[in-house]
Amino acid sequence: MQEGDLYSDFNKSNPNKFRDIQELLADHKSLFRWFSEEVVLDVGCGPGDVTRHVLYPWLPENANKTVLGVDVSPVMKDLGNKKFGHPDVFFETFDVSGKNLAVITEDEKFRDGFTKIFSFHVFHWINDLELAFQNVYKLLKPSGQVLLTFPISRQYQRLYKQMQEKEPWSTILKGAHREIPNYFLNGDATTEFLSIVTKVGFKVVTCKLITTHDEFPSIEALKKLVGSLDIHFNRIPTSMRGQYLEECIEIMRKKNLKELDNGTVVVTEKRITAFMEK
Ligand SMILES: C[S@@+](CC[C@H](N)C(=O)[O-])C[C@H]1O[C@@H](n2cnc3c(N)ncnc32)[C@H](O)[C@@H]1O
Repeated sequence: MQEGDLYSDFNKSNPNKFRDIQELLADHKSLFRWFSEEVVLDVGCGPGDVTRHVLYPWLPENANKTVLGVDVSPVMKDLGNKKFGHPDVFFETFDVSGKNLAVITEDEKFRDGFTKIFSFHVFHWINDLELAFQNVYKLLKPSGQVLLTFPISRQYQRLYKQMQEKEPWSTILKGAHREIPNYFLNGDATTEFLSIVTKVGFKVVTCKLITTHDEFPSIEALKKLVGSLDIHFNRIPTSMRGQYLEECIEIMRKKNLKELDNGTVVVTEKRITAFMEK
C-alpha cells in the first residue's frame, strides 16, 4: 500500500475501521501483563492514525510508553511523523519480512526489544511468513506479548490481479508485479498458521479464525479502500481512476459484496486473530 493519504482518508470516512481494532484490543485486554515501562511496536502501521489514535490511547495511563510504528512503505514514516507525531510515538520504515533488524535495534530506545507487538491487517501482504514471524520473535522481549489480526482470503490482491488481466488495465499496468503469497490457499488456515508460529517458538495463547462482515458506510468509502490498497494505483491516469474503481466494485459485487437498502456495504472476509507470547 503506497497511498498513505488515501488510506487514512479511508479510515476517517469509515468509523468502523477504528471500532473493529478497539474491539479487538478490548477483547484481549485481560490477557495482557503490563509493566511500568512499555515499549510497543505496531507492525505495518500504515499512515499512523491507528497507532496514534487507537493503540497509544489504549495503553495503560500509568506506564511510561514508547511506541514505534513501522511500515515497509517509505511514505508512511513521513506521513506518520507529519500527521500523527507525538513525543512518545515514533515512525520508521521497516520490512518485517526483511533481513535488516538494525534499522530498529540501532536506536537505543528500541535496542532491548519490545514488551508488546501489535499488527492489524498486515500479514496477508507478506510473502515469507516464517521469516516475518522470526523477526517479530527476535524483536520481542522475553515474556513479551503479541496481538495480531489479518484476513486470510487476500481478496484485494486477487481483485487487482483479475483487473490486470483485462484491457485497458493490462496495457496501463504492463509489467506491474502482483504476487499472492502462497499461504492459506487450501485446507485449514488455523493449523497452517499455528504450525508456522509454533515452529518459530511462540507460545500461542489464543488463535481464532472468524468470519467478519466488514461494513462500509457507502460504495464510495469502499472505493477509497480499494484504491489505497493497490500498490500500483498511482500508475493509473487520474482521469481513469474512477472507471478502474467502478470495475473493481463490479467484480466484488459478483463475489462477497452486499449492498443494503440504506447504502451500507458489507464485505465478508475470514480473519485470523492470535494472541501469542515469547
Ligand atoms: C491494510 S494496511 C493496515 C494499516 C494499519 N495497520 C491499519 O490497520 O490501519 C497494511 C499495511 O501493511 C504494510 N506492509 C505490507 N507489507 C509489509 C512488510 N513486509 N513490512 C511492514 N509493513 C508492511 C503496508 O505498507 C500497509 O501500510
